[in-house]
Amino acid sequence: MDTKELLDAGGKHLMAFTKRFPIALVRGEGMRVWDSDGKEYLDFTGGIAVTALGHSHARVVGTIREQATTLLHVSNLFHIPQQTHLAKLLCEHSFADRVFFGNSGAEANEAAIKLARKWAKEHGASDRGDIITMRGGFHGRTLATVTATAQEKYHHGYEPLPGGFKYVPYNDLRAVERALDSRTAAIMVEPIQGEGGVIIPDDGYLPGLRKLCDEAGVLLILDEIQTGMGRTGKLWAYEHAGVSPDIMTVAKALANGIPIGAALATEDVATAFSPGTHGSTCGGNPFATAVGLTVLTTLLEERLPERAARLGRLLAESLAKVQARHPKVVKEIRAKGLLVGMDLVPPVGEVVAACRDRGLLALTAGDNTLRFAPALVLDEADVDRACGIVDRALGGA
Ligand SMILES: Cc1ncc(COP(=O)(O)O)c(C=O)c1O
Repeated sequence: MDTKELLDAGGKHLMAFTKRFPIALVRGEGMRVWDSDGKEYLDFTGGIAVTALGHSHARVVGTIREQATTLLHVSNLFHIPQQTHLAKLLCEHSFADRVFFGNSGAEANEAAIKLARKWAKEHGASDRGDIITMRGGFHGRTLATVTATAQEKYHHGYEPLPGGFKYVPYNDLRAVERALDSRTAAIMVEPIQGEGGVIIPDDGYLPGLRKLCDEAGVLLILDEIQTGMGRTGKLWAYEHAGVSPDIMTVAKALANGIPIGAALATEDVATAFSPGTHGSTCGGNPFATAVGLTVLTTLLEERLPERAARLGRLLAESLAKVQARHPKVVKEIRAKGLLVGMDLVPPVGEVVAACRDRGLLALTAGDNTLRFAPALVLDEADVDRACGIVDRALGGA
């Protein structure tokens, strides 16, 4: 099939649940990808914050080859060495004591919600099950996680939605304080809202939430599915705030594109799950966790969170120069490491298309935010090239 036939066939046979860019990507190497017509692009989407090590990373490819010829899947009826090793490494490098593995971010958040509710019932009244989440947040597309996602545009048509979720504005501690009551089991929040537009809360927000949770005896769930794995300049974004959660969810970059999700918890909270209370057939299988182990080991050995902090600063500074050249179009830049948002005046989709035409792949977020979530392995030349393209795209050149 040529590209047109391929796009037409997709239009006919795939459920149109999302709007796709009009290209098909067929190969990737490091920061670069190629489409089915052979055109090269600089990838600043990172597969939506997934391919932290870039495309076709040698160590990831090596693990995939080796594990594919050794053992792919056996189920959680058995002990799985790779799963145990990855859980141990995650715990050694976070607040957590225990890990549950699933296959996606949404599945990780489902596990977190179920775990929090079960813990709350065992440590309080039987009607304690409410989860407070933040407006503009994003937690997934399953029924529970889309309901946790306090954005009505994602709910339309899916009613009846599961109960037990309360919404408050982001970055507003008083609103949380008002919403907390005897039925609250947990507060669930992203350290930075990614899909919501790269919204960075005040420095005191996470410590404030931690304090409110401790005072009320409710759990703090941090969704680090987009912010985790080094993206914000620390391995976990909560490290910037100096406080830790009771439960944290991780997915996306954990296996660089092999489907995986994880809910991490303290010993006390994790014990709410006992045999038979939760599960996932493929979650944590030898293949996904072997790759996850390679990704996390590489990230730590190559100090990629530090690299994200350094290159993120450079990217933000370079984009600020672009903003200075287009003050009427660029309203604001928000960045933490390599999670960067640029608020624009014109329809952001047009700028994304203009960047793509010039060889740069970028994301959108929120209403009018151009978002970048490149691999953590990018270099100064990639930053330079990307900012040059954004500059030309905004200027129409
Ligand atoms: C913060 C956050 N949570 C959860 C999810 C859902 O993850 P998945 O698409 O792997 O289910 C996403 C996806 O963008 C996300 O950004």
